[in-house]
Amino acid sequence: MSGTQSVDLFKGQSRLPKFAVPKRYDLRLTPDLAACKFTGTVCVVVDIVGDTKFLVLNAADLVVTEGSVSFRNQDSSQELHPIEITTVVEDEILLLQFEKALPLGEGTIRIGFSGILNDQMKGFYRSTYEYNGEKKNMAVTQFEPADARRCFPCWDEPAFKATFKITLEVPHDLVALSNMPVVEEKLNGLVKTLFFEESPIMSTYLVAVVVGLFDYVEDTASDGTKVRVYCQVGKTSQGNFALDVAVKTLDLYTRYFSVPYSLPKLDMVAIPDFFAGAMENYGLVTYRETALLYDDRHSTAANKQRVAVVVAHELAHQWFGNLVTMEWWTHLWLNEGFATWVSYLAADSLFPEWKIWTQFLDETTEGLRLDALEESHPIEVDVNHASEIDEIFDDISYRKGASVIRMLHSYLGAECFQRSLASYIKKYACSNAKTEDLWSVLEEESGVPVKMLMNSWTKQKGYPVVTVKIKENSLEFEQSQFLSSGSNGEGQWMVPITICHGSYESQKNFLLKTTSENLQIGEVGVSLFGKEDHDKLENHWIKLNVDQTGFYRVKYDDVLTARLRSAIEGKQLSVADRFGILDDSYALCMACKLPLSSFLSLVDSFREELEYTVLSQLIAISYKVVRIVADATPELLGDVKQIFINLFQFSAEKLGWDQRSGEGHLDAMLRGELLTVLAELGHDSTRDEALKRFAVFLDDRNTPLLPPDTRKAAYVVVMRGVDASNRSGYESLLRIYREADLSQEKGRVLSSLACCPDPQMVLVVLNFLLSSEVRSQDVFYGLAGGSREGRETAWQWLKDNWEHISKTWGSGFLIARFISSIVSPFSSEEKAEEVSEFFSTRSRPNIARTLRQSIERVRINSNWVRHVRLDDSLPPLINALLSPTGKR
Ligand code: BES
Ligand code: ZN
Repeated sequence: MSGTQSVDLFKGQSRLPKFAVPKRYDLRLTPDLAACKFTGTVCVVVDIVGDTKFLVLNAADLVVTEGSVSFRNQDSSQELHPIEITTVVEDEILLLQFEKALPLGEGTIRIGFSGILNDQMKGFYRSTYEYNGEKKNMAVTQFEPADARRCFPCWDEPAFKATFKITLEVPHDLVALSNMPVVEEKLNGLVKTLFFEESPIMSTYLVAVVVGLFDYVEDTASDGTKVRVYCQVGKTSQGNFALDVAVKTLDLYTRYFSVPYSLPKLDMVAIPDFFAGAMENYGLVTYRETALLYDDRHSTAANKQRVAVVVAHELAHQWFGNLVTMEWWTHLWLNEGFATWVSYLAADSLFPEWKIWTQFLDETTEGLRLDALEESHPIEVDVNHASEIDEIFDDISYRKGASVIRMLHSYLGAECFQRSLASYIKKYACSNAKTEDLWSVLEEESGVPVKMLMNSWTKQKGYPVVTVKIKENSLEFEQSQFLSSGSNGEGQWMVPITICHGSYESQKNFLLKTTSENLQIGEVGVSLFGKEDHDKLENHWIKLNVDQTGFYRVKYDDVLTARLRSAIEGKQLSVADRFGILDDSYALCMACKLPLSSFLSLVDSFREELEYTVLSQLIAISYKVVRIVADATPELLGDVKQIFINLFQFSAEKLGWDQRSGEGHLDAMLRGELLTVLAELGHDSTRDEALKRFAVFLDDRNTPLLPPDTRKAAYVVVMRGVDASNRSGYESLLRIYREADLSQEKGRVLSSLACCPDPQMVLVVLNFLLSSEVRSQDVFYGLAGGSREGRETAWQWLKDNWEHISKTWGSGFLIARFISSIVSPFSSEEKAEEVSEFFSTRSRPNIARTLRQSIERVRINSNWVRHVRLDDSLPPLINALLSPTGKR
């Protein structure tokens, strides 16, 4: 068989052939931080289980310098050299072709290679930092989903688990870390060689190495595991919070999963250049600085919560993902959905005052938003090529995934669920699992047909809206797929319906399996609602999806809607239910199933709302409604803004600008969001106060007058006052950015800059984002939150810079954010066309879906704008809401 034929045989396959299975990697790496290069050798013990003349493994961006395979048995040993070594660039595979079929059984492959420490934040890459005023490089790995192959040739698929014995050769004065602890160290002049203990079996995407200058803080978990947080020299005090969370969370998971943490140590490292938020490498979790470091004086309550949730998420992966690994990327959601869900469990246990389960509704909402697009995808999604994997780290895998787990958890009950999880972890430890495997265990433990129930949620995209109507002696339920476009989808689900009426004392449940169901309100024991319910159902509020544990929307008829409104005003509903009613109505409004006037009239019933989660959602909604009104009926814009100002002022005044002693975490978060939205809405006294405080802050970064939680609001006020002829506010913010030592502060400044209404300034800001002063990991802070007035400029800028942007960010999942942030705010059919046209020759696998989704969003906005224009009740309603008599 010739060389070209061998290539063709293995080309274009989505998975590696299974005739050789790796068992143990002995990997030696020598990074050269100054030259940004590395060399390495890998010896892999493989089991040859099928007849083959070929060894096929992954490799990319590597130069292979040697390759051989040796076989040894009791009386002989032989070393075979390939007759040809080929790399297939587009499939990222390496082929070693031998003259004859390889002997069956165990052999050892040895490959020598070299590569570049790239600046793409994936594979084996360099990150930069300053030490004593000098710019330095560190070497870091980021392998998930499929970039271990950029560091060493390997079977780079999650199901090829093996053990790893890693050796690093590094400058003697640097810290070098890997998944396992060091067992031996040899010093040879200025170079030290570190030998790490062999790992338990694991997938390649979890292998990790970090080499650089670091300090650390350390603690020990109850089971003796040594936990460390590594950060820049001199900054260890910022690591203490995460360390504390990690130690407590390890203890908690050990109990929850009934399986101990499997490694002798756990290191967590802050990396200055990091593509995502954090990465769960086995025993060596890497983080971007904002997700690990907490500074008492300059971090916000939101920053603190982010650190806790991210740490809890990554530690959850040590079990869910690292010990039990998905069989293939189609089941990525098992990793990410679970880690997301479990992180809330941990955060709730550590910080009950955060009411984190009500905050979980943000996750559900985002999942529902994305999944309401026709361009959504099922949780279990086909993945055929490595380049398609990046895109599925999205709100479907994470947020819909976590939400359907929560739904099932609530359906089966906490105790049964935990028991089943523990037995699932035990059963699949050190191995791989599919979605079905989890369902089987849950089914066995619970006796409930979990597979049938859950398939409808994970194997098809979308979710239902359940319409409920009250008739004289019955309640009618109907399900149909909810789509933001307003069209009708085909989907059908097994919907766990929960109902409370009149009070939370008793709850009724049933599984809606068909399109519609009519529940008679009849005899006790015969139907769900007995005689005793009759009166309550006739006169009281009825709330479905109690506490919003289900992944669906509810549309009530007019009678039930009116009752719910009074229940909100009468403060009879739980926080989660208030949130749910608000968000479902908002989604229906966006889909043009509910006029904006009706929605605003519902919003009015929240005028005495004090809860963080509900207000935070109202704030998020207000940004969007204001933009739609600006496009649809600009003559009403001032009034609509005033309605929201009135709504938010009530609690903003209660909270004020200054931290009060003994106030809660949620107060601090709420204050920040309220002041920021008031700033965005152009509220005069917020502006004046912000400017006063900002002036003091500019001279003294430690002034108590502008606590971290309020800074974003002040920055927004400053930027809104900037235009091309008066840039001094912008320059002050740049000064803060440049002088800030803390990444969270830098991010805060970046996220405020583009809110400027002057398009010329927006362009200045966008160009600044591409300058060397902004790390490429941070550009997204700047892109989000761009002003409506600047959106056309941003789009032009994206087109003008596309070549540069796609070169710099093109190889990962970050590039998709450029498109979603800049394209989605538009609201006309023409723009949707223009965007499609521009990308018709520029799309590629890692942006294709995001692009289609962003264009769909533009079309949804455009429909919505048209619908708002036709809403004749809007002007009179606005008048009524703004009239001093408060006639509503
Ligand atoms: N496994 C992911 C990191 C990752 C993301 C790898 C995308 C490859 C592509 C990690 O566990 C994770 O989910 N990180 C999140 C933070 C989390 C709290 C949601 C992140 O990076 O945003
Ligand atoms: Zn994760």
